[in-house]
Amino acid sequence: MCGIAGYVGPKNAIEIVFDQLKRLEYRGYDSAGIAYLADDHIEVIKKAGKLSNLGDVLLSEQRSAHSAIAHSRWATHGAPTDGNAHPHFDEHEDIAIIHNGIIENYHELREDLLKQGHHFYSQTDTEIAAHVIGDELGKGGNLEDAVRRAVKKLRGAFALVIVSKKEPNKIVAARNASPLVLGIGCGESMLASDIPALLPYTRDVVVMEENTIAVLTEEKIEILDGEGRQLPVQPQHIEWDLASAERGGFEHFMLKEIHEQPKVITQTLSGRIDSKGKVRLDGVFSDHVWAEIDRVNIISCGTAYHAGLMGKHLFEKLLRLPTDVYYSSEFRYGDPVLSPRSLAVFVSQSGETADTLAALKLCKSRRIRTLGIVNVIGSSIARECDRTLFTQAGPEISVASTKAYTAQVLVFALLALHIAQVQETPGVRVDEWVDELLRLSDLAEDALSTEEAVKAICAKVKDTSLAFFLGRGADASLALEGALKLKEIAYIPTQESPAGEMKHGPLALVDESVIAVFGATDASIVDKVISNVREVQARGGTVIGVTTTEDRAMEQVTDLLVRIPKSKFEFLSALLSIIPLQFFAYHMAKLRGCEIDQPRNLAKSVTVE
Ligand code: F6R
Repeated sequence: MCGIAGYVGPKNAIEIVFDQLKRLEYRGYDSAGIAYLADDHIEVIKKAGKLSNLGDVLLSEQRSAHSAIAHSRWATHGAPTDGNAHPHFDEHEDIAIIHNGIIENYHELREDLLKQGHHFYSQTDTEIAAHVIGDELGKGGNLEDAVRRAVKKLRGAFALVIVSKKEPNKIVAARNASPLVLGIGCGESMLASDIPALLPYTRDVVVMEENTIAVLTEEKIEILDGEGRQLPVQPQHIEWDLASAERGGFEHFMLKEIHEQPKVITQTLSGRIDSKGKVRLDGVFSDHVWAEIDRVNIISCGTAYHAGLMGKHLFEKLLRLPTDVYYSSEFRYGDPVLSPRSLAVFVSQSGETADTLAALKLCKSRRIRTLGIVNVIGSSIARECDRTLFTQAGPEISVASTKAYTAQVLVFALLALHIAQVQETPGVRVDEWVDELLRLSDLAEDALSTEEAVKAICAKVKDTSLAFFLGRGADASLALEGALKLKEIAYIPTQESPAGEMKHGPLALVDESVIAVFGATDASIVDKVISNVREVQARGGTVIGVTTTEDRAMEQVTDLLVRIPKSKFEFLSALLSIIPLQFFAYHMAKLRGCEIDQPRNLAKSVTVE
C-alpha cells in the first residue's frame, strides 16, 4: 500500500530516497515524509498531498545526509494530514520510523503507553509502534535488539523501517507480512517496499522473508531471525525492465490487482474480527441505532453498484431488512421516497464519484443517516458520510475495478454480521460466518488457479459477437459484474440478466455466434440454471459454466467449465466466482489486442455528472 524507501552510504541519502519515492508514485499515496540524520538529531519533514509538496520543502535549502528513510502514505488510520504522515518519532525523538501495513493491537498498546505518560501527536497506529520501539531501546542494547523485542509486542501485518540518532549510519527494518526489498550496492545499502525504487541504484536485491529483521550499513546487510541469530543473505539479480517491475512482474495492473485479492481479503478483515471470533467494526453507529433502521438504500455506480446488489442479498436474507439498490444518477433525479428511519449506504472505491456524492448530499439535506463504504481515506464521500467503513483494499490503479469490488462485498458481509451480532438476529450463525470469512483468503488463492483453464476457454471463444452473463440469486449479481468487466476492457457486447429472464426476450438474440457464461455456484438452484443452459444450447449458443469443485450437474451439460472452491455459504462461493470472471475479461481483452489498464472512453475516477 504505502511506499517505503531507505538509503545508507556515501551519496546524498536525501536525494536518493526522494527519487526512490517518485519511482513508487504509481502505487498511489496521499502524503509523504522523510527522516534523515542531521548532526545531533533526526530531522523529519512531512507534507500532505502531492510528492512535489515535500519536494518543495526539501529544495528550499541545501541538505545532505548519509542515511535517510522516506515514505509515501496511503492512509489507513487517521486522515491524510501533515501530522499523520510518516515518519513518526518515539517519546524522546531518539528514533524515527516509517511503516506499511496495520498494527491491529494499537488500541491496547496506546492505552498502556498513555498510562505511562506518553504523548501522541497523530491518529496513526505507526506512532504507537514508534513509542514501543523507543521504550525497548531505552531498556538497553542496540537498535536491532530493540526492534526485535518490540515486534514481538505488535500484532498485525507490517513492514517497519527505523533510524536512531544514537546509531546514525544504520537502518533497521522488520518485516511481518508486508513486503520489503533490500538493495545491495557498492559501498551502500538501501531498501524499498517495491523493486522499481531500487533498480536505478542496484539490480542485486534480497526480498525479506517473513518475521526477519534487516540491519543495513554502508558496508553490509545483515539479516536476523526473531532470536537475533544471523540468517544467510541471498541476493537475486533482477533482469526486469522498470515498467514491468512497477507491476510486480505482471503484464498489467489489472492482472496484478486480480492476483492481490487473497491479500486484500486479509487486509479488509484485518482488525475487524477479535480474538473471540466476534466481528468488531469500529466507527459505525452505536448499537441502539440498528434497531431504529427500517430500510436500507444502497446508492452507487458501476462495479460499486454491483457490490451493493450483493449487500442487498445479505441484508434481506440474513437480517430480513428491506433493502433497495439504486444507481446514484437515478437516485438523485428520481425524487426518492425516504423513510426518516432509513439508512443510506454509499459505496465508492474512489470516494469522489460525482453522482454518488450528489446523492449523498441529497440524503443529508433530508436528514437521513448516511454510511460510506469507501476505499480512499480522506476522499469527499468518506468525509461527508456520518460514518464510513474503509475497504482497506490499497490503491487500485487499473481503470477496471477488481480488488475493490471484492473488498466492498466483504465489508457488506462484515456489516451484516455486525448488525446480526448486535441484534442477536435468530438463525444467523455469526461464528460459522466468521470461520468461513477467515478461510476466504485461502479459497481465493485456490480460485486464482483457474487462470489457465480460463485462458484456454478464451482461446476458443475469443471471436464471439455477443456474450451473455446469466445466473440466479447471488450468481445473477455476479453476472452483471462479469459482463461489465468484459465490455469495458474487451469491448465485446454483452447481455446480462437473471437466467430466468432469458425466455422473456433476450433468448431471441441467441444463435451459433454467441456465448453464454452461466454462474451456478448455488447447488440448491442448479436444476433451474440447467434448464436455462439447455435453452441457449438448443439455439446453437456455446455455454461456459462457472461452478464449484463439488458440482456434478453442470459438468454434464456445459460446453466449457471452470471450477472454483466451494464455501459453506453460497454467498461466498458466488463471490469467489468473480475471480474467473475477471480473468475471462482480462484474457479476452489480451487476445483481442485491447488496451487493458486504460480502456477507451473510461476514467478511473468519474468526477463529472
Ligand atoms: C468498473 C468501474 C466503474 C466504477 C464506478 C464507480 O470497472 O470501475 O464502474 O465502479 O465508476 O466508481 P467509484 O467506486 O470510484 O465510485
